[in-house]
Amino acid sequence: MAPAPGIGIFDSGIGGLTVAAAIRQALPRERLLYFGDNAHVPYGDRTAEEILAFSVAITEALVAKGCKAVVIACNTASSAALKPLRQRFPHIPFVGMEPAVKPAVEHTRSGVVGVLATKATVEGRSLADVVERFAHGVEVIRQACPGLAQRIDNGDLDSVETEALLRNWIEPMLERGIDALVLGCTHYPLVRPLIERITGPAVRVIDPSDAVARRLVQVLAEDGLATGAGNGAMECFTSGEPERFHAVPALLGLQCGTVRKGVWLPDGSLALP
Ligand code: DGL
Repeated sequence: MAPAPGIGIFDSGIGGLTVAAAIRQALPRERLLYFGDNAHVPYGDRTAEEILAFSVAITEALVAKGCKAVVIACNTASSAALKPLRQRFPHIPFVGMEPAVKPAVEHTRSGVVGVLATKATVEGRSLADVVERFAHGVEVIRQACPGLAQRIDNGDLDSVETEALLRNWIEPMLERGIDALVLGCTHYPLVRPLIERITGPAVRVIDPSDAVARRLVQVLAEDGLATGAGNGAMECFTSGEPERFHAVPALLGLQCGTVRKGVWLPDGSLALP
């Protein structure tokens, strides 16, 4: 019997697994197919054109594997590719990441909130849009964190160097009075304990993963795709080294079988086994 249609989830690396974990909680029976483009991480330093080309090829590969919907579990790729992907694959519902400026603005009492994100997200249209739509007089300090996603992807979740980098970015925001801090990159929840050690309890750290999972549940229901027919299996693919990828799903409470290698072909397409 052919496997049930699944939900494709992708990111530049392991970061999107934080979103996959929230999706698994919300949809315990759906078949999930995760692709981490670890061969190309970080996306945050790449051009929008490059990120779009990767995103199109990844979507094609996920759809060919039987995905009925795709979650872009990457703020950088969502900012660069969500709209064009919707145009290119009109029959596939997409859910993308959006920096959680709205809940931060709703929470703040000081009138100053912070966003940590990749360079591409900080400079991109999507963050500018949510700030325009929701900030309404609240100051939004946008801090790019070059190198952080790459470090996390390399498994460095708790080193002295990572903490020093984070302090360097977060302490000036604390001095300016933030009381909410948005994690605008899906890799960053993996260093949330470190971030909270720096902010202390007075600052609310906001990770939008649960909201994205809720949105996916809604979209599947609206499109009549919420069959609930799967057996809760998860398949993981990476264009990097499967052995290195392997430990992270378990760290987040996700069960997946053997991580398999996805290969980028010279014509720019992606082959998933
Ligand atoms: N996890 C990604 C994001 O949400 C991408 C980080 C990167 O590859 O630079 O932005």
